[in-house]
Amino acid sequence: MPAQLERDFDRFKRELPRDFPAHVRDTYRIDLAGRYLSELVPHPIGKGSGQLSLNAGQLEDDAAAGLAFAVLKTVIAEDQTGARTMAAWAIHETKMKVEQRPTDAGRTGWTVTWKGRGWDRTFTDYLSLVRTGRDLTRAGRLLVVPSVKYHLPRLAEPFRENEYRHTTARLADAWREAPLLLEMDFSPTLAGDALADDRAQILRWLREVPACIRAASPIPVRVAVKLMNARFDDAFQMEMMHASVEADALVCFNRLFDAARGVAYGGWDLSDRNLRVLETFRQSPEITGTGNIGSGRMILEYARRGCESVQLHTFFQLPLSEYPATHGSRPQRALHALVFHPRDGLIAGMLELESRGQLERQRGELRFLDLPSHAHRTD
Ligand SMILES: Cc1cc2nc3c(=O)[nH]c(=O)nc-3n(C[C@H](O)[C@H](O)[C@H](O)COP(=O)(O)O)c2cc1C
Repeated sequence: MPAQLERDFDRFKRELPRDFPAHVRDTYRIDLAGRYLSELVPHPIGKGSGQLSLNAGQLEDDAAAGLAFAVLKTVIAEDQTGARTMAAWAIHETKMKVEQRPTDAGRTGWTVTWKGRGWDRTFTDYLSLVRTGRDLTRAGRLLVVPSVKYHLPRLAEPFRENEYRHTTARLADAWREAPLLLEMDFSPTLAGDALADDRAQILRWLREVPACIRAASPIPVRVAVKLMNARFDDAFQMEMMHASVEADALVCFNRLFDAARGVAYGGWDLSDRNLRVLETFRQSPEITGTGNIGSGRMILEYARRGCESVQLHTFFQLPLSEYPATHGSRPQRALHALVFHPRDGLIAGMLELESRGQLERQRGELRFLDLPSHAHRTD
């Protein structure tokens, strides 16, 4: 198997087969299937919402590469007159800087520095991207999911139901067939905002937002809540997870916020915190991991703490010299490294877990989804 893996790693540097999960199953007897918002996907690796899911060309490349799913950039909810209570999140900013960020302990990881926030074009433009995503989803080429930032009131205020209703109804209309899958983004810039100074206020949002979205949707909807890293301690991260019981899935956790520089950041500080909090969470909602995922081994760290899929952003933005593949789009090169790297890839990592007795074959196969289900076993 190690020799076969070395061979595959080498030959796929030029071109990754589109249906690599079938190859992995045939060759290694490994079932990579993952799950996102209750949909079974051929493997666990998807693209997180952001600057890499802004247009049809990016989605086409993701489908061609064989990503399992892609979450569209977060759009800011609006009512029928176009009014947006969260308009401060719809600012225009294009410049991104991919750079290295050291932790206090001196470990250096990649981060993307960017001052922007949500979708900055019209809602009509967004709906046209949603329709492109719908067609890719229907064709079985790529599961595409829109992301929204809805109104978040102060404690004494009501939710602006008309923004929920108008935005969700138009998304449902563009999507057409039930269920509508949606992500609700609680972003790092929100975590850094005065709105998020009050813990009780945040917990109320998490308890009530999924129901507000459901009530607003003309068709059945599944809601993933992408939790922020609030500026409080780990215990509060857990409280946020517990408060989100109405969500169909949780995305854990969006980037950290550097208050001094006024920017969100990732790297090792992010994965250290996310994994530490997930480690202690003992319930079993559906969880998708996000944060500093740059190897199959890191995917397995998230999976062993309950994540059934993962969402990446930064790893799709690295300088080309950082990927071992010599040809292909960034999503292809990323998948090649994440799955086939002979030491740090998913296959190598799963075979190692098997040899350590931490993952067993079921009917001859190692299954990725057995890892998150083991995480929630209480025995
Ligand atoms: C430039 C940039 C823009 C992002 N925009 C959004 C966004 O609009 N909505 C959202 O939910 N997450 C957004 N994210 C967060 C990513 O989807 C992802 O969860 C996060 O960056 C952690 O993954 P990573 O370490 O692989 O980058 C953004 C991330 C980056 C780097």
